[in-house]
Amino acid sequence: MHPAVSMFTNKRLISIINNIFSTMAMLLFDHPKNRFRHLFRSKFIFLLVCLVSCTPPEDPIKCSSNTTSSCTITNSYGMFPDRSVCKAANVAYPTTEQELISVVSAATKARRKMKVATRFSHSIPKLVCPDGEDGLLISTKYLNHVLRTDAHAMTMTVESGVTLRQIIDEAAKAGLALPYAPYWWGLTIGGLMGTGAHGSTLWGKGSSVHDYVTKLKIVSPGGSEDDYAKVMVLNENDHQDLDAAKVSLGVLGVISQVTLKLQPLFKRSITYVTKNDSDLGDEAASFGYQHEFADIVWYPSQRKAVYRIDDRISSNTSGNGLYDYIPFRSTSSLALSLVRTTEEKLESTSNAGGKCLGAKLLTSTLRTSAFGLTNDGVTFTDYPVIGYHNRLQSSGTCLDSPEDSMITACAWDPRIKGEFFHQTTFSVGLSVIKSFIHDVQTLVSLDPKALCGLELYNGILMRYVKASSAYLGKQEDSLDFDITYYRSKDPITPRLYQDVLEEIEQLAVFKYGALPHWGKNRNLVFDGVIKKYKNARKFLKVKETYDPLGLFSSEWTDQVLALKVGVTTDEEGCALEGLCKCSQDSHCAPKKGYFCKPGKVYKDARVCTFVSSKKHM
Ligand SMILES: Cc1cc2nc3c(=O)[nH]c(=O)nc-3n(C[C@H](O)[C@H](O)[C@H](O)COP(=O)(O)OP(=O)(O)OC[C@H]3O[C@@H](n4cnc5c(N)ncnc54)[C@H](O)[C@@H]3O)c2cc1C
Ligand SMILES: *[C@@H]1O[C@H](CO)[C@@H](O)[C@H](O)[C@H]1NC(C)=O
Ligand SMILES: *[C@@H]1O[C@H](CO)[C@@H](O)[C@H](O)[C@H]1NC(C)=O
Ligand SMILES: *[C@@H]1O[C@H](CO)[C@@H](O)[C@H](O)[C@H]1NC(C)=O
Repeated sequence: MHPAVSMFTNKRLISIINNIFSTMAMLLFDHPKNRFRHLFRSKFIFLLVCLVSCTPPEDPIKCSSNTTSSCTITNSYGMFPDRSVCKAANVAYPTTEQELISVVSAATKARRKMKVATRFSHSIPKLVCPDGEDGLLISTKYLNHVLRTDAHAMTMTVESGVTLRQIIDEAAKAGLALPYAPYWWGLTIGGLMGTGAHGSTLWGKGSSVHDYVTKLKIVSPGGSEDDYAKVMVLNENDHQDLDAAKVSLGVLGVISQVTLKLQPLFKRSITYVTKNDSDLGDEAASFGYQHEFADIVWYPSQRKAVYRIDDRISSNTSGNGLYDYIPFRSTSSLALSLVRTTEEKLESTSNAGGKCLGAKLLTSTLRTSAFGLTNDGVTFTDYPVIGYHNRLQSSGTCLDSPEDSMITACAWDPRIKGEFFHQTTFSVGLSVIKSFIHDVQTLVSLDPKALCGLELYNGILMRYVKASSAYLGKQEDSLDFDITYYRSKDPITPRLYQDVLEEIEQLAVFKYGALPHWGKNRNLVFDGVIKKYKNARKFLKVKETYDPLGLFSSEWTDQVLALKVGVTTDEEGCALEGLCKCSQDSHCAPKKGYFCKPGKVYKDARVCTFVSSKKHM
């Protein structure tokens, strides 16, 4: 908890959130007959003032009463893509490496299935589920210590449950920095390596955190000769094993310690520039080479793109900027519920225009508040924002939390009525980026309102990622697209412009061979995914030596590694939730007018398209 941060956050947040939500809600609800009107006028402002009490996310692992057995585990959104409930016989919370080794040893001896779980469980797919009901969860919640910082060698060794936020803070104290990282600091080093998480750059070794790992320690199942647990220390001399362990989906064993190569702490200068998206295809291919921390936010329906001009600068330059990204701050539960209610209403009435209005308002408010950047930690006056890297690289103040009040929370906290979405995230090779963007633009031009819905989640975040030597890492230099969009609480309710969203997903993954983010996405994009990794076989070989019985594997990891079939299903309505690519109408929602049709730009796509009954006749 940074008291200074929360102090200013509270004051500033009130005005910002007020802006976003009240304007949006007023626009959408301010009708004399509307039942929400009264609520707004009387209680809205009052409730926003209660920002001091935000609520930490719930533990994703729940067990019978207060024991550690008969447990369920979910992700931080409270829902896996297939909505299944995931069970485990019990959970272990090792506090030291020695305890961790004993836990793995005992479970291996009993031939039990195991899975590593983290404090927050921020991945969307079912990576944390052990098979069946008698598996064991090994939580890294208490393996959360920074072990050593070597300012001279510029390295830091941490336990695997340490969060990105801890790494950033501890490194800064020693005058060091992790140069590139995810923008959300509530991830553990073990978890973000498990899924190949990244920030944005084409410089140096690229933006994937795992490419800055120089050494790691991993505990895997062993035979009787090593008391059923093997402890391996891998460094750059064991590059075969290290390349497998750097991005492992958790199937090699439990990573207990990680050593990261850092750099001297530096300053950055950030300016956001908004342009129309006419030349986005060309810009996207070159922008990442021009600025070290470049990224782009694309609002395809508004035909706009926001370019982040972000470079390292001399440490002499004055400025103490701070990035506290607004969507990652704690937000009033009431405001969130009103926004969600609005979104549900716009969906159920197919009000695309309303979504476009809301999107414009939200994105312009975010833009004028510099997305949460401030020049001095308190107010934003003008670009550039200059400051130390550790204060700009990631954020996530919604995790801070003195109490369990639920008055404010992270926007997606499943205990409140808030955001509920699907996230389609994939990396498109830079060599084909222009054609991909062009295809999406063509799709938008056929129906300009189609993508307003994703602009309500601040558009498409585009970040640069470099090819990695990790076997399950990026295969070429690419641009990663992060697309977030409405998910209904009801699995068989289609969404507005279902077809366009599905077509973009299939365009990227099937036409342009994009690689899905292992920690996000809906199931269908993982169908056959392993064929896209040239060293997949080497990965499987290492897996075979580390865990020959597959105790750390599960149905899901076997499926994505193509050791088992069944990533997709064949059930009614499966395409609506991304559990299949439709091949017949029943995979969509024919009773609601959604039929399985070819894509409009990518003819090989099969998407659930709304066909009005008039057209039908
Ligand atoms: C708000 C938000 C913002 C995000 N922003 C970004 C971003 O900017 N960039 C990006 O790339 N991703 C981002 N992500 C996705 C995120 O990086 C991944 O989902 C990440 O894997 C989650 O880390 P976690 O610590 O929660 O791990 P979990 O989701 O709990 O675990 C992920 C996998 O790693 C395995 N694992 C965890 N610890 C260990 C260990 N010690 N040893 C072996 N295996 C282990 C687990 O078994 C599981 O298979 C974001 C997610 C959220 C919710
Ligand atoms: C649960 O915890 C409470 C105190 O935290 C304790 O009094 C009670 O006995 C526990 N119940 C079980 C079943 O362990
Ligand atoms: C987009 O901006 C460029 C200049 O940056 C301008 O030449 C072009 O006409 C604009 N396109 C549209 C559609 O506004
Ligand atoms: C930075 O500061 C040092 C000493 O304070 C000075 O010698 C140097 O010229 C400065 N560099 C720049 C780019 O201002």
